[in-house]
Amino acid sequence: MPLPATIPLPGGLAMPAVGLGTFRVRGQEAVDAVSWALAAGYRHIDTASIYKNEEEIGTAIRASGIPREQLFITSKVSPYQQGTEAATAACEASLRLLGTHIDLMLVHWPGVAKVDAASPDNAAMRRQTWRVLEQLHRRGQLRVIGVSNYEIKHLEELLGYAEVKPAVNQVECHPRYQQRDLRAFCQAHGIAVVAYSSFGSSQLLSDPAVQAVVAAEGITPAQALLLWGLQRGCGVLPKSVRRERIEEAAPARLAGLGELSPEALAALDALEEQQQQKYCWDPSGIA
Ligand SMILES: NC(=O)c1ccc[n+]([C@@H]2O[C@H](COP(=O)([O-])OP(=O)(O)OC[C@H]3O[C@@H](n4cnc5c(N)ncnc54)[C@H](OP(=O)(O)O)[C@@H]3O)[C@@H](O)[C@H]2O)c1
Repeated sequence: MPLPATIPLPGGLAMPAVGLGTFRVRGQEAVDAVSWALAAGYRHIDTASIYKNEEEIGTAIRASGIPREQLFITSKVSPYQQGTEAATAACEASLRLLGTHIDLMLVHWPGVAKVDAASPDNAAMRRQTWRVLEQLHRRGQLRVIGVSNYEIKHLEELLGYAEVKPAVNQVECHPRYQQRDLRAFCQAHGIAVVAYSSFGSSQLLSDPAVQAVVAAEGITPAQALLLWGLQRGCGVLPKSVRRERIEEAAPARLAGLGELSPEALAALDALEEQQQQKYCWDPSGIA
């Protein structure tokens, strides 16, 4: 079965299922990585205000000559930019730096920087941020809006007051941290899941269990982990600053591989039971 190349979003928008991750990529390295990715067929770039590379991404996009409507740009409002005034300024800055509209704007994190994780201020401020995103969405500057690192409790709260429902939840998700309950909740509420850190920030690539699984398939560990995410219905965000690695994870290369065999899929599915492992920050403590 061919894997879907896009994930449907509200308003008839189609999000390319494979996007280039750009965390910790700045300056000329960011321009190069995005340029190579676009040349390799990527049409979705994932950035965030806190990555401090939106300007470079805008530059690479314009230089590519690819019509803007063929591209999909995700950015995020950082934990330092929560609340009405800061989130408004953050969105304006992202739009200015990128030099184009934003296809998907996310609330990066349910918490607020420098606010205690247990404080009710987190909920009050992320609600204000959501209202800002809703307003800019209605004005057409943010085509779709969503969240990132939201647990079920954060989503339930948001769904209770959202006038525009979140279209996406971007979360850490890979065979050692599968987010089964969260993915089921999102599916039930029509929220697309985008998986980040598919490679466990590179540590999963050398995991002996992953290596054993992929040897039989004749594919690379990166490809196996990305196919696992796609087959679980998620978008994926491979990140690399190396051209050959960007090409190894390109959408057409992955599509050409088809699905993982049932045995490989089952072996990767079994990893979390053997040992659950989270590689990124944990939002469960945010009230
Ligand atoms: N919303 C959030 O809070 C959040 C959090 C984390 C990540 N993200 C997004 O998701 C993206 C991906 O996550 P991530 O950056 O944490 O990590 P990742 O994609 O799991 O792993 C990236 C690391 O793997 C290495 N790598 C990539 N391809 C490789 C290959 N074929 N062989 C060997 N090593 C390879 C990269 O090194 P080189 O660059 O040197 O190749 C990099 O160090 C981010 O860039 C960001 O866009 C979002």
